[in-house]
Amino acid sequence: MTKVSKRVKDIPFSGIRKFFDLVSERKDVVSLGVGEPDFPTPAPMKDAAIRAIEMDYTAYTSNYGLLELREKISEKLKRENGIHADPKREILVTTGTSEALDLAFRAILDPGDEVIVPEPSYVSYNPCVWFAHCKPVPVSMREENEFRVQPEDIEEKITKKTKAIIVGSPNNPTGSVLRKKELEGIAKLAIKHDLTVISDELYENLVYDGEKHYSIGSFKNMKDRTITINGFSKGFAFTGWRLGYAVSNREVIECMMKIHQYTMLSAPTISQHAALKFDESGKYTKSMVEEYDRRRRLLVKGLNEIPGISAITPKGAFYVFANIKKTGMKSEEFAEKLLKKAGVAAVPGNSFGTSGEGYVRFSYSVSRETIKEALERIRKLMEKN
Ligand SMILES: Cc1ncc(COP(=O)(O)O)c(C=O)c1O
Repeated sequence: MTKVSKRVKDIPFSGIRKFFDLVSERKDVVSLGVGEPDFPTPAPMKDAAIRAIEMDYTAYTSNYGLLELREKISEKLKRENGIHADPKREILVTTGTSEALDLAFRAILDPGDEVIVPEPSYVSYNPCVWFAHCKPVPVSMREENEFRVQPEDIEEKITKKTKAIIVGSPNNPTGSVLRKKELEGIAKLAIKHDLTVISDELYENLVYDGEKHYSIGSFKNMKDRTITINGFSKGFAFTGWRLGYAVSNREVIECMMKIHQYTMLSAPTISQHAALKFDESGKYTKSMVEEYDRRRRLLVKGLNEIPGISAITPKGAFYVFANIKKTGMKSEEFAEKLLKKAGVAAVPGNSFGTSGEGYVRFSYSVSRETIKEALERIRKLMEKN
């Protein structure tokens, strides 16, 4: 009998998956649990993929990704993010943002290093740090700061072993968007303590109420100590195509490419051809964001009208991180009750780290009808309590 690695065995499965195994056992569930767009991929991207198949573009690409795609990404980074990256050596196309994250950690960490992870955090950050034989150090993001991580809280956790800080803005699961001043504070810390910032900007397109997304890699003296991670999954309804990218200095990208070369070879070719049309797909993203915004307002208003639940208005992504502390229940107990008694699926906040306890994540990447139905069910359940 094969014995699996003890270290890997000890790493827990994602709390989200565990919860959704329960959901799949039921047919009548209204789900506000999923974290992916419910829109189709923009037509220009789909058409480009079909054309690529017809043209038999089915071979590997360069390890770095199609040069034409890297050139387009480089232009976009300059235009929208203020980042200047050489398409030949400073951009790596990856299999989803997920791979870019994993490569970033593996490329810069040595065993025993510490990485500061603002919590509640996206579920993959801690495991990626563990897989690299390193230690994630949590920093709580608090509701009174609208879940925006504060530089002074980060500074308290910096030790001699700290190598990097991960920044996720707009944030999954809280929907918070870091302000320029906070990012400048983080940049200052990175420079002072000689740290790298891994900036996960996957939700950059999904911001509301006139909020602005800033890329920390564009700040003064930050280009060489930032790894900007991004992809097409959320802004372009592209999750199943598995395409992302990483941007940093030549040495870091080369090191990430080395791991990618041996473990992945190249990102999916058809998906890269589809992604070449991301510029032409902006109007689709815009209309998705307008619809997310309508859903966001509906969900926040509805949750705040239910006894025991309160929710601040998130400025980005497509999640509401609702406070359920007044119900007296723990996150998991609440989510289980919601599922079993009301047939509504949402993700317990503690799946995103201990500072998510007392909260539940509701996703609004579902139709307004679904949101209305879920709100009605939750209201009925809470009124019975
Ligand atoms: C914050 C964040 N980063 C990265 C990912 C991974 O995305 P991808 O589909 O690009 O691998 C997700 C997916 O939900 C996410 O929420």
